[in-house]
Amino acid sequence: MDLLPEEDKPTAWFDPLYAGADEDGTGVPWANMATHPGFDAWLAKNALDGKCKTALIVGCGMGDDAIELASHGFSVTAFDVSDAAIAHCRRRFPDISVDFRVADLFNPPSKWKRRFDFLLEIYTIQALPPKYEQNVIGKIADFVRETGQLVTVAIVSDEPRTFESGPPWALTPGHQTAFVQQGLTLTDHQILSGASRRGNDLWVSTLTRPCPDSAVQ
Ligand SMILES: C[S@@+](CC[C@H](N)C(=O)[O-])C[C@H]1O[C@@H](n2cnc3c(N)ncnc32)[C@H](O)[C@@H]1O
Repeated sequence: MDLLPEEDKPTAWFDPLYAGADEDGTGVPWANMATHPGFDAWLAKNALDGKCKTALIVGCGMGDDAIELASHGFSVTAFDVSDAAIAHCRRRFPDISVDFRVADLFNPPSKWKRRFDFLLEIYTIQALPPKYEQNVIGKIADFVRETGQLVTVAIVSDEPRTFESGPPWALTPGHQTAFVQQGLTLTDHQILSGASRRGNDLWVSTLTRPCPDSAVQ
């Protein structure tokens, strides 16, 4: 099976990959089958109280980060473009109350706009060809409600982002600026030096959507 991504069908290769994978994650090259180490590092520095709060996970893959967030009390929605990925999540975690569902970041449900208190994005932007970066950053930012928080985990390098260089298409430091241009404020930033599987730096960024009143002096 040829699982190389096509630039103009950027999501088509994910479902065959997950359909051919085992429940233990064999066949999913990015699967940790545990809370992502970058999100773990964030949790070590930040207390989370999700009681009466909503969380959305972008490109949830095998589902472990959704389970982590549910354990902090959030009402969690976790989506992926791949039916097979969501089927894995539902089979792996049948007794945990997470709304695992198939959805496409390029065309998300309109009712998700500015809806969520907490957003988690790990490795989805970089799994899509560079020409989609601005579009998906805008979509992700738009899920965050006023005073809500977004945590992103990304592999970052200074290399030029070309279609031929991926996947994954490591982000550049400029991805933070792109989120700020969407109206979010960068509130924290950790660099985990050489922490990706290939030895690149991992950037863990925290952004918030300010309350509109905070602009009034
Ligand atoms: C590199 S994987 C990371 C998965 C997971 N976040 C993790 O860290 O293990 C990227 C994920 O994004 C999903 N994805 C890619 N494009 C998507 C889209 N347009 N909408 C929703 N999910 C998407 C893929 O199916 C895949 O599960």
